Amino acid sequence: MTEKQITTTSEAQIAVHWGEEQYYYPSYEFVAQANMTDPEIYNRFSLENFPNCFKEYADLLDWDQYWTNILDTSDAPCWKWFTGGKINASYNCIDRHLAENKNKTAIHFVPEPLNEKTEHITYQELYVRVNEFTALLQDFCGLKAGDRVTLHMPMVAELPIAMLACARLGVIHSQVFGGFSGRACADRIVDSDSHILITMDTYFRNGKLIDHKQNADVACELAEKDGKKIDKVLVWQRYPGKASSKTPMIENRDFFVNDILKDYYGARVAPVPMPAEAPLFLMYTSGTTGKPKGCQHSTGGYLAYVAGTSKFIQDIHPEDTYWCMADIGWITGHSYIVYGPLALCASTVVYEGVPTFPDAGRAWQIAQDLDVNIFHTAPTTIRALRKIGPDEPAKYNYNFKHMTTVGEPIEPEVWRWYHEVVGKGKAIIVDTWWQTETGGFLCSTLPGISPMKPGSAGPGLPGIHPVIYDDDGNVLPAGVGKAGNICIQNPWPGGFQTIWGDRQRYVDTYYSRYNKDPDSKDWRDWPYLAGDAAVEAEDGYYRILGRIDDLINVSGHRLGTKEIESAAMSVPEVAEAAVVPVSHEIKGKEPDLYIALRPGLTGDSEQAQIISDAICREIGKIAKPRNVWIVPDMPKTRSGKIMRRVLGAISNNTDIGNVMTLANPDIVEDIKSIVSK
Ligand code: WTA
Repeated sequence: MTEKQITTTSEAQIAVHWGEEQYYYPSYEFVAQANMTDPEIYNRFSLENFPNCFKEYADLLDWDQYWTNILDTSDAPCWKWFTGGKINASYNCIDRHLAENKNKTAIHFVPEPLNEKTEHITYQELYVRVNEFTALLQDFCGLKAGDRVTLHMPMVAELPIAMLACARLGVIHSQVFGGFSGRACADRIVDSDSHILITMDTYFRNGKLIDHKQNADVACELAEKDGKKIDKVLVWQRYPGKASSKTPMIENRDFFVNDILKDYYGARVAPVPMPAEAPLFLMYTSGTTGKPKGCQHSTGGYLAYVAGTSKFIQDIHPEDTYWCMADIGWITGHSYIVYGPLALCASTVVYEGVPTFPDAGRAWQIAQDLDVNIFHTAPTTIRALRKIGPDEPAKYNYNFKHMTTVGEPIEPEVWRWYHEVVGKGKAIIVDTWWQTETGGFLCSTLPGISPMKPGSAGPGLPGIHPVIYDDDGNVLPAGVGKAGNICIQNPWPGGFQTIWGDRQRYVDTYYSRYNKDPDSKDWRDWPYLAGDAAVEAEDGYYRILGRIDDLINVSGHRLGTKEIESAAMSVPEVAEAAVVPVSHEIKGKEPDLYIALRPGLTGDSEQAQIISDAICREIGKIAKPRNVWIVPDMPKTRSGKIMRRVLGAISNNTDIGNVMTLANPDIVEDIKSIVSK
């Protein structure tokens, strides 16, 4: 490796020295019932058979009009799948199941308080509720296909209902994670140009009833300052008919959904057949610069891909009870709580609260009560549950056949606890590597076919052909023990279409690095740069080592250092801010914040608190820095760039290396003495 790579992929350098792990094999019992046990699938989905292989996924859906062209590359690298086809996502997730399964539970909604009943919403009930809300969106809000709507909803059944109602009309939904602040919501309203905001008055989290309505007021006010006025705020009530939030309603802007909905009882709205390439939703994700990116996902390609991967990787059968403990406000929830499982007519669990309320046994209690047999969560949650209740799973009588881990690399030790204790040594595990941009899984083992290897995601999925390039574009072959930039050689139906309103940024960020001819219309010329460092073992399994850019992965959620830094800079006294990731036992990584104040000012703990609060307000609690270190100056290169590498080493108590190239090497000792106090 070159000197340059050593400094840019230092995390990779550590990780490639990890030893190889032993294989774990799926049980005969699992294989006997698995949806996919034929290894031929890898040949059917080989590069030679690309793109036609994906017909198999498209055929899992019901089309209003069958497509004519499987992959249109004329606007490369903005790929269009299944063109000529027309389809409705709401129809595919609801209506088509009614004939045979209308009385089956579609959504189990589990409220956080123990004294509230779980709601079992059948497919018929889902059909009724989605239709009524669709009628409200169409008639009361005047929404039509192509309009954008921002949702800022907690984890309640009304969230998938609202999403499916939008999809029924071809309205593009943009759900903002419920834990995000009003400011974050406003930015997304402005960027997507939404005029309707759908929210909820309150919800439970960790035993507390949160007043969520106040975020809507902040969002509307800030969006209006940025020139985007919200016409209507639709407020679902956590307790219909009872105002549980103290924040007042604003006349002619705020409406309780439960009141208005009465006018639409019994209404039915025919699903609008949408072109396959029409956008279904936007999902904002952090980028390296301040502004979040609105990943635009398609209707036909996306739905086909999440249905196919839910079937083959999640092994979902219609009789399964499936629980993904992610938040629907992240891509995992969109793809693998809502669209994938419902397209396959499974029963999907929506849990309002945190998995540790009121105690470390809650998750297993829910699994037992609902007879969940497929379970899906993130390493951060597994670490937390392992820390506070290592013996809890054994106390509950649930039966998982299948478990997923997603969102960040899982340490083999944690993997083994998941397998032995949570999975009771029986459940298979898939470690699914993918991204907001990719719509669905990219790398994972096929659960009924391939053995598992702790800490490795596995090979590319059928039809996904990864390659690892070094910084100069040379392929790093399997087994060389070197980390590089993982790319996907071919498009796939679940991939995002563009960044909303910013095609150039889409091309620059994901495709320009390894593209040789910007005018090419051939997909072979456009490897997709995922932005992760990875290493490929001899067996073709990929181990993901983390981001190559400036993102911090906190509890499986991506945060841009630039976002946090710019939030810190909103405090007038702050001159410079630098964020570095520090390792955290549970969350994976936490942001550590270094601040240099304006000249002449000296900071104290009160000042540090103000800065920390500003970050929580601007982004959300998830971005709260572990420490705010107020330092006299930042370590800088001669050209004035802040050396985050040095700060990172100080925060993580690792070797700082040579600092003599800095413009101000003496500052390093000063900062070290502040941090070691
Ligand atoms: C990381 C979440 C290792 C990776 C679906 C990626 C993972 C980023 C894994 C995307 C995994 C996701 N193993 N790392 N199984 N899954 N990542 O957009 O760095 O929230 O680029 O999507 O999470 O995060 P995002």
